[in-house]
Amino acid sequence: MGRYQDKGVLVTGAGVGIGYEICRQFAVEGAYVALNDIDADLARKAAASINQEVGREAVFAYGFDVADLKALRAMVSDLVRRVGRVDVAVANAGLTNFGEFLTYTPEAFDRVMAVNLRGSFFTAQYAALEMIDKKISGRILLMSSITGGQSFLNLAAYGVTKAGVRHMAKVLALELGRHDITINAISPGLTITERTLQDDPNAEANWAEVTPMRRTGHVEDIAAAALFLASPEARHITGQTLEVDGGWTTVSPMPTGHPAKPEFSSRLK
Ligand SMILES: NC(=O)c1ccc[n+]([C@@H]2O[C@H](COP(=O)([O-])OP(=O)(O)OC[C@H]3O[C@@H](n4cnc5c(N)ncnc54)[C@H](O)[C@@H]3O)[C@@H](O)[C@H]2O)c1
Repeated sequence: MGRYQDKGVLVTGAGVGIGYEICRQFAVEGAYVALNDIDADLARKAAASINQEVGREAVFAYGFDVADLKALRAMVSDLVRRVGRVDVAVANAGLTNFGEFLTYTPEAFDRVMAVNLRGSFFTAQYAALEMIDKKISGRILLMSSITGGQSFLNLAAYGVTKAGVRHMAKVLALELGRHDITINAISPGLTITERTLQDDPNAEANWAEVTPMRRTGHVEDIAAAALFLASPEARHITGQTLEVDGGWTTVSPMPTGHPAKPEFSSRLK
């Protein structure tokens, strides 16, 4: 028996990257998983690949844009039709769109908001309605980012959505707690995926250099956090944002010449 045997799980934006690994780990642990991606072909291939690995029809593919609320709702209903329940919903789909603030267009702004905030908000709402209907002690996970707490150049709109996602976890914790549903956000640091490697082929070494753990995040690190927050052991954790960043957000830049050298540590003697 897996840790998530026969549970109903849904994950958005999961054809590749972090979402894919979350689907994979839930399926390996016995769950049935609704896997969404805007690229329908990719969603099908991703589901087939996991099904082959686990040796059963554990993953169902849904190709649509999470900003399309009708399709989003239909996926939630279809998962219930297939497996009778939604235990865990992971609003993972997020659009990373770089652009300078001074030339950022209203169209780009609206699109980033629609995917990252609207998509996450209604993934949580539709899943919560099903959990409440079936009296399930559910788990909702949102995907924030270190850019939702720290400033990154040319990621203003994206960063605003990721800060919004953190707050979404807080405000919804209050409304969902009475229904025995927890909601938390995960905040990955730079995580090696097809996309981040395309943006910076040296991402692994570059981020290891500035990260206290001297390594870069991998999709397994984020999926492990997701499976923990979805577990019965995490029943008393809600409204939180878990930084999974090797300690990157614990450090701020120091001015050159700051007296942080060993000889100054003897001052208290
Ligand atoms: N990878 C990182 O370094 C990192 C760091 C912090 C936060 N995050 C967040 O984690 C999540 C996953 O990141 P990733 O790097 O694995 O993702 P990614 O950018 O590689 O995208 C994963 C999948 O999402 C799909 N997708 C994009 N827009 C969609 C939409 N509107 N509807 C449905 N599917 C859509 C893409 O087709 C893709 O297959 C995102 O929310 C991202 O913002 C990632």
